Amino acid sequence: MSRARHAAGRRIDNLAKWLLKFRIIAAPSRWIANSSLTWSVVSRMDRIRTLRLRDHIKSADEDLMPRHISMIMDGNRRFAWNQNIERDAGHAAGKERLKEVMRWVLDLRIRYLTVYALSTENIEERAGDELDTLYDLYVTGLDEICADPLIHNNRVKVQVVGRRHLLPERVREAITRAEATTSQYDDFLFTICLAYGGREEIVDAVKNIAADHASGELSLDSIDPEAISSRLYTADLPDPDLVIRTSGEERVSNFLLWQIAYSELYFSDVHWPSFTRKDLYEAIDDYQKRRRRYGS
Ligand code: FPP
Repeated sequence: MSRARHAAGRRIDNLAKWLLKFRIIAAPSRWIANSSLTWSVVSRMDRIRTLRLRDHIKSADEDLMPRHISMIMDGNRRFAWNQNIERDAGHAAGKERLKEVMRWVLDLRIRYLTVYALSTENIEERAGDELDTLYDLYVTGLDEICADPLIHNNRVKVQVVGRRHLLPERVREAITRAEATTSQYDDFLFTICLAYGGREEIVDAVKNIAADHASGELSLDSIDPEAISSRLYTADLPDPDLVIRTSGEERVSNFLLWQIAYSELYFSDVHWPSFTRKDLYEAIDDYQKRRRRYGS
């Protein structure tokens, strides 16, 4: 349920509570608070607002629409805790939400979407049974994504970046299947960061540069930002314009450290599995109001 719906619900509850003070209208006010008609009106209003916001962000100048959105999907466990459901159900809801978000981003014709699904730190810090649940979700999630007609109709290439050797074989096989199934597409690029760490990525690029320098392929003078960017896992992507992190934490947690030098950061309080289409549009609307300065 979206925040707007919550807020509208609270207002109706407050009105009903106030009306309850006058016994004569207790019955109608209880009916207002509980009726499905009320909720239907609230949710319709919310839907209309969401669609208006979509039209609004789409009507902005083309160069105000982010070309590349990247997302730190945080808050699956807190979502589960709040809903009083198992931790694993929270992660499963996170996977379902990702498929929705992919749809909404594609609908806006945003060419690049990159998501942070597992960090190298997660692999070290999370319990074995939680990791097993996550690995199973990546396998089913990747298979579902690649069977989705939306991916094929929109010619979306799916790629996974990170230290694959840290992942179990079943996940590596699912990655190979997903990449092979979509390798011929190039209209959109959906990148999933798995077993990923921004510092590790930079270390790998530096090693690559050192090797090229040692072999005489790369002179000291040619080592510039471009030399590093072109050796990152994300060499074929433009830097993100907008980074969205859910669940209220305001940090980047080793995500695309090099690439987000000039990205706009947006923090949403909503837990990832509750992130709505309207939340996405609000993030883009906020981005469109900012003035990107690139040091000017
Ligand atoms: C962070 O929330 C989330 C993760 C570590 C996993 C994210 C994975 C998914 C959304 C599924 C992705 C599926 C595919 C196919 C890529 P958390 O567990 O840290 O929650 P918390 O912040 O509440 O503790």
